[in-house]
Amino acid sequence: MEEISLNNLPKHIAVIMDGNGRWAKSRGALRIFGHQNGIKAVRETVEACAELGVGYLTLYTFSTENWGRPQVEVDGIMDLLVKTIGDEVPRLHKNNVQMKCIGDMDALPATARKNMEKGIETTKNNTGLVLNIALSYSGKWDIIQAVRKTASAVKSGEMSEEAIDEEQFSHYLSTYPAPDVDMLIRTGGDHRISNYLLWQSAYAELLFLDVLWPDFRKSHLLEAIKTFQTRDRRFGKTHD
Ligand code: IPE
Ligand code: IPE
Ligand code: MG
Repeated sequence: MEEISLNNLPKHIAVIMDGNGRWAKSRGALRIFGHQNGIKAVRETVEACAELGVGYLTLYTFSTENWGRPQVEVDGIMDLLVKTIGDEVPRLHKNNVQMKCIGDMDALPATARKNMEKGIETTKNNTGLVLNIALSYSGKWDIIQAVRKTASAVKSGEMSEEAIDEEQFSHYLSTYPAPDVDMLIRTGGDHRISNYLLWQSAYAELLFLDVLWPDFRKSHLLEAIKTFQTRDRRFGKTHD
C-alpha cells in the first residue's frame, strides 16, 4: 500500500473477471462453484478501490455473449446475482459506494432486475466509489445504444448533426459520467478484451494476469496499480 502513489491512481479501473469455470474444473466441481467463489474477489476489489479513493470501478459480470452458455449455467449465475446483490448492498452502502448497472437491463430476469434497481436506489446518494456492474453488457451494444440516442436527439431537433463529437457522444454511453478507462485488468490468462468497454478503453493500460478470478485478492490489485504507475502514457504524443 505504501508503495502506491495516491496522486497517480487510475481514476477508472475496469476488470474482466475471468477464470471462474477453470478454477472450479481444477477442483472437480461444477462451473457454478467457481462463480460462487468469485464473490470474495469482488468484495476485496471493491473495498480496496473504495479505501484507496479510486473514482470508478467497472466490473464485467455477464456479457451479451454469455447468454449463449448452457441454460443451467445462465440460471445459476442469475440466481447467484439475486442473492449476492441482496447480501452485499448493506456493505456497499456502509462503504459509501454508489452502485450502478450498465448493460441491457431489460434482458435480465425480473427478480434480478428488481434487486439491482433496489441496490441502485439505496446507494444513489453515496459519494464514494462508483461501482458499475456490467450485466448483459457488450461494448458494441453500448455503442449502438448511444448511436440510437444520438440519432433520436438529432431527429427531434434537440441537437444538430454538427454538434456530434467525441465529448457529446460519450454522454450517451452507459458509463457516463465516468471518464475513459485508465487501467483494464483481465484475469484468467487470456489476452483479449471480449467485447468489453470498446470506446472507453481507447487509451487504457492493459494488464493481463494469469491468476484465476476466484484467487484474485487485494494484493493483486495493489500490484496491478503499481505496474500501472510505471507505465509511460503518451496518448500519441512525445515527451519533447
Ligand atoms: C468468468 O468466468 C465469469 C463469466 C463469464 C460469467 P468464466 O465462467 O468465463 O470462466 P472460464 O473462463 O471458463 O474459466
Ligand atoms: C468475458 O469472459 C466476460 C466476463 C468476464 C463476464 P468470457 O469468458 O465470456 O470471454 P471469452 O469467451 O473468453 O472471450
Ligand atoms: Mg471465461
